[in-house]
Amino acid sequence: MTFQQELIDWYYKNKRDLPWRHTKDAYTIWLSEIILQQTRVEQGLPYFHRFLANFPTVGAFAAASEEQVLKLWQGLGYYSRCRNMHATAQVVVNDFGGVFPDSHDALLKLKGIGEYTAAAISSFATGEPRAVVDGNVFRVLARYFGVYTAINSPAGKKEFYSLANELLHRNNSADYNQAIMEFGAIQCKPKSPLCITCPLSQDCYAFKHNEVSTLPVKLKKAPQKHRYFNYFICRDDENILLQQRQAGDIWQHLYDFPCIETLEMLDPQGDAFVEALADNFGANVSYTLLSSKKHILTHQIIHIKFFELKNYIFNFSKQKKLNWVSLHKLDELPQPKVIHDFVIEFLL
Ligand code: ADE
Repeated sequence: MTFQQELIDWYYKNKRDLPWRHTKDAYTIWLSEIILQQTRVEQGLPYFHRFLANFPTVGAFAAASEEQVLKLWQGLGYYSRCRNMHATAQVVVNDFGGVFPDSHDALLKLKGIGEYTAAAISSFATGEPRAVVDGNVFRVLARYFGVYTAINSPAGKKEFYSLANELLHRNNSADYNQAIMEFGAIQCKPKSPLCITCPLSQDCYAFKHNEVSTLPVKLKKAPQKHRYFNYFICRDDENILLQQRQAGDIWQHLYDFPCIETLEMLDPQGDAFVEALADNFGANVSYTLLSSKKHILTHQIIHIKFFELKNYIFNFSKQKKLNWVSLHKLDELPQPKVIHDFVIEFLL
């Protein structure tokens, strides 16, 4: 049996029953694919259901406020992806009469839809013969065919895309694409793949050559940047001071607290910290450290300290967008996950 047929047979026997596999609606498939680029299936499922329940059509999605959409996305991270989705929904309504495109080339023109997503939506919705290449596909192909080119190098991308398109089952691209991704997710897993029960192991290069743990090859990423955020909780019994984050940095348009970012971790008792605080909040300010957290993003590690302030006056930079917000409203506003976790633990 061919590689393709083995995969499809495996898929029919082993696939998970996932809601987006029961539809050919491009909008619904798009929602699922964008969410699944951000998280694993189990964690993505509730987000998928919530988005569809709130926005059953692309028109409903487009009509929502950015705040509503970000709130539903809260916890998934990479919020520009969510804002791109919202912008795309509005383009579909304004330029395509509310009909979500389902051809690969039309999809590629939309914001936030790259090669992978265009191939996924067009093949799942219409059977267009376009191969998906995601992390699962890289892994399955690298291992089975013994490809050592780094999957995150330009040469690797080219080689794997070309191999994937050669292998694509052209009359059944939808099931084949689902099959290879599903196979990567539950059989040919990154760690501890299930080679013993694998129907493809006899012809798998990595299995035969004992190279399963070396493939796929990936180039080392640039080291992550460390950042130090000192957050200040200014509140009374009813209100709290929030900052809405602006363009040009992480968490655009999400809410956090007044923040002083420093180039290194400052000792809260040290002169530099005390001075910065006095500059921004007056000489009489007093502060208590409530919590410290390390928050890891793709390219950055954020070291966070939350301080509660008392006896402050306000010299805080006018450029920052700060507002007093009722504590009752706090939970309705979109916040980065690390902020929301703090809010739940300390403020609600
Ligand atoms: N990951 C990305 N797309 C997926 C899909 N359609 N089904 C399962 N996992 C996925």
